[in-house]
Amino acid sequence: MKKLLVTGGAGFIGANFVYYILNKYQDRQVVCIDKLTYAGNLETLKGVMDNPNFKFVKADITDRETVFKLFEEEKFDAVINFAAESHVDRSIVEPEVFLKTNILGTQVLLDATNKYNVPRYHQVSTDEVYGDLPLDRPDLFFTEDTPIHTSSPYSASKASADLLVLAYYRTYKTPVTISRCSNNYGPYHFPEKLIPLMIVNALHDKALPVYGEGINVRDWLYVEDHCKAIDMIVNDGTVGEIYNIGGHNERQNIEVVKTIIKALGKDESLIKYVTDRPGHDRRYAIDPTKIRTELGWYPETDFDTGIQKTIDWYLENREWWQNVMDGSYQEYYEKMYGNK
Ligand code: NAD
Ligand code: TYD
Repeated sequence: MKKLLVTGGAGFIGANFVYYILNKYQDRQVVCIDKLTYAGNLETLKGVMDNPNFKFVKADITDRETVFKLFEEEKFDAVINFAAESHVDRSIVEPEVFLKTNILGTQVLLDATNKYNVPRYHQVSTDEVYGDLPLDRPDLFFTEDTPIHTSSPYSASKASADLLVLAYYRTYKTPVTISRCSNNYGPYHFPEKLIPLMIVNALHDKALPVYGEGINVRDWLYVEDHCKAIDMIVNDGTVGEIYNIGGHNERQNIEVVKTIIKALGKDESLIKYVTDRPGHDRRYAIDPTKIRTELGWYPETDFDTGIQKTIDWYLENREWWQNVMDGSYQEYYEKMYGNK
């Protein structure tokens, strides 16, 4: 029986990973720690709360004492660190918490991994550490050798964490791996990010705020394909290595928004072009050759299927996102869009 620590498991990708692992393996235990920030939602984990192979602990990854105690008690076989502040726009308004959680939290987990001799530490990173690519060079892609070149406090904090992970590998031989994935979409995505925000706003016939001209490009991957990749890296990845994850699924933001409008039978007059994000990255595009050739990973859900599945999920789970969209979310929404 293998025991995994999943941090940030009440968030979007972490929760999808918890479901993926518990559905796939009968002989794995998952302990999830999550601080339950605005982005963490225990309702998301409702489906596994009674599973004897699952345990939830509310904890902050920067709380060294609590984290060390947990490592001592649980004796993990692997740590998978999803916990992070993850929204670029928030990082522009309030960077400090990004540095605390994303960098110092990673350090606490690495120290605990060393002290309690955990055989594997996996850092869930992002393609945003590579900065951006020009819009007029579709021949260029991010490889694992692309230099780090960050644009936002969010991506700078994630890149710093990656450097720390690699430094622990070199200095202490901590058995680490890193994955850098492109933009995810799917169930349980917090409705402040592009795809869920557009779905939820369109369902309310509210304006759809598109930054700048809507021509920025993101490389979208269905969340389950990301979970599959992380599982393969944790099982068979080479220690000390970085793996890019992406499915060659590039779309301009405006294309994504129009796809959602069409699928919901709404009108394009809902689109509202708003002030651009400062430092807005132009294009992300992953070259996934390494993970495909070394680990045999490939994406299973194409964009047309994935976006329809995602829209259906939001239609069938209105209670989930309606519960999310009260309180702090509303205040935040006013702050970000009120005067645009
Ligand atoms: P999310 O914001 O939906 O979830 C983050 C979770 O971490 C939340 O449950 C939150 O409560 C928890 N958390 C935050 N601070 C914490 C702390 N100090 N201690 C413990 N828990 C804390 O984020 P997500 O989209 O699920 O992203 C998960 C990871 O994947 C992040 O590391 C992110 O950088 C990375 N990533 C995300 C994407 C994407 O498209 N969403 C793409 C590539 C990589
Ligand atoms: P987002 O989902 O925040 O992910 P990231 O910035 O990490 O890629 O944004 C995806 C793209 O959509 C990005 O180019 C910014 C744009 N965007 C909008 O145009 N309007 C919005 O309201 C949001 C949240 C994002």
